[in-house]
Amino acid sequence: MMNYQRFFEEAIDQLHAERRYRIFADLERIAGAFPRAIWRANGEAREITVWCSNDYLGMGQHPDVIAAQQQAAGRMGSGAGGTRNISGTNHPLVELELELADLHGKDSALVFTSGFVSNEAAISTIARLMPYCLVLSDELNHASMIEGVRRSGAEKKVFRHNDVAHLESLLQAAGRERAKLIVFESVYSMDGDVAPIEKIADLAEKYNAMTYIDEVHAVGMYGARGGGITEREGLAHRIDVIEGTLAKAFGTLGGYITGPRAVVDAVRSYAPGFIFTTALPPAIAAAATASIRHLKQSNIEREQHQRQAQRTKDVLSAAGLPVMPSSTHIVPVLVGDPELCKMASDRLLGVHGIYIQPINYPTVPRGSERLRITPTPFHDDRLIDDLQDALVETWDALGIPYAGTRRPAQHRTDRIIPLVVPASGG
Ligand SMILES: Cc1ncc(COP(=O)(O)O)c(C=O)c1O
Repeated sequence: MMNYQRFFEEAIDQLHAERRYRIFADLERIAGAFPRAIWRANGEAREITVWCSNDYLGMGQHPDVIAAQQQAAGRMGSGAGGTRNISGTNHPLVELELELADLHGKDSALVFTSGFVSNEAAISTIARLMPYCLVLSDELNHASMIEGVRRSGAEKKVFRHNDVAHLESLLQAAGRERAKLIVFESVYSMDGDVAPIEKIADLAEKYNAMTYIDEVHAVGMYGARGGGITEREGLAHRIDVIEGTLAKAFGTLGGYITGPRAVVDAVRSYAPGFIFTTALPPAIAAAATASIRHLKQSNIEREQHQRQAQRTKDVLSAAGLPVMPSSTHIVPVLVGDPELCKMASDRLLGVHGIYIQPINYPTVPRGSERLRITPTPFHDDRLIDDLQDALVETWDALGIPYAGTRRPAQHRTDRIIPLVVPASGG
């Protein structure tokens, strides 16, 4: 007889055996003091610095964003009250979709409850509606895109990461007549590299393929108005569907697609992941709109973000730490072993009050386990110097390899000041 309890315990044991069991830190972000947060563990509460948030620009604590959310909640309440199909669309969501269509220079936009859902719902619906569609998918695409392709039931061919020659050979083999959808990302979030968007758009034109780009790790941060890498490179009009999230640089929650009116309308009309789920709350929609509006006309966040990201890379590289090559704001530091990666993360938090979640398989290939550091405009120069000291101390203490030759320890211990604040509640 099936022992259900035992079955699930064994599934968890398997993760422990593979050293892949994940533990989440118990954190409380402090609005107004980002990237500081309160970390609760072992009955104690401690103030720490977060170095792995995807609130890339700190917009989650921007006064205009908080005010918009509070005002909308005060006027309209907390929830959306149902699916849009059954209960209509709250006006803040109408405004948000207009804002998003304008951001990417597209006819229409459609908002989902997350970026994951937007990829899963849109890709599966677009590829399913087109007869005998072939999906061409970059090998490093996010799980939400892979899930969308899988659910479409369409044939899929995976092209080597950012390899346009490989993509072209697959397009050529499929021929111009067959329906084809190329799905890829602009910024790949684990390595921080960027897709050859123009070349992919050229190939799409040559072989008559449709294009779908995930700009989740770029919207808000790149382009003169925060329209992502496609805006920065003047390519938005050459990509059919641009997908993004409201949960990272825009600091709120939700996902979206923008594109030609008929495509967006078809997804709205056919995608179960859109139709059969409650809409985003109006207060979240209002907060997202405030964030997008702010970032459309303000460049200071983007400039500071790039400056602090570059400085972080420079300082850590100069210390001999194995910073992996990245042409964007993402700073991956190689550890190369899951156990060491977890130990490094634990030590950074416990000893230095620095939170960086370990990134292990299957998020990244085995042997490339890493600390993925995401500087924001709020990680000032002093915080960067503190991070360098803490990483060097951790690398020395755990014997993690440096880049090239091993560097003599030069860490300063005078900066390691654990701040203890009273625990409130749990
Ligand atoms: C490339 C990519 N696409 C989509 C998502 C999902 O976005 P969201 O967090 O809004 O669900 C993520 C990660 O969160 C991502 O990294």
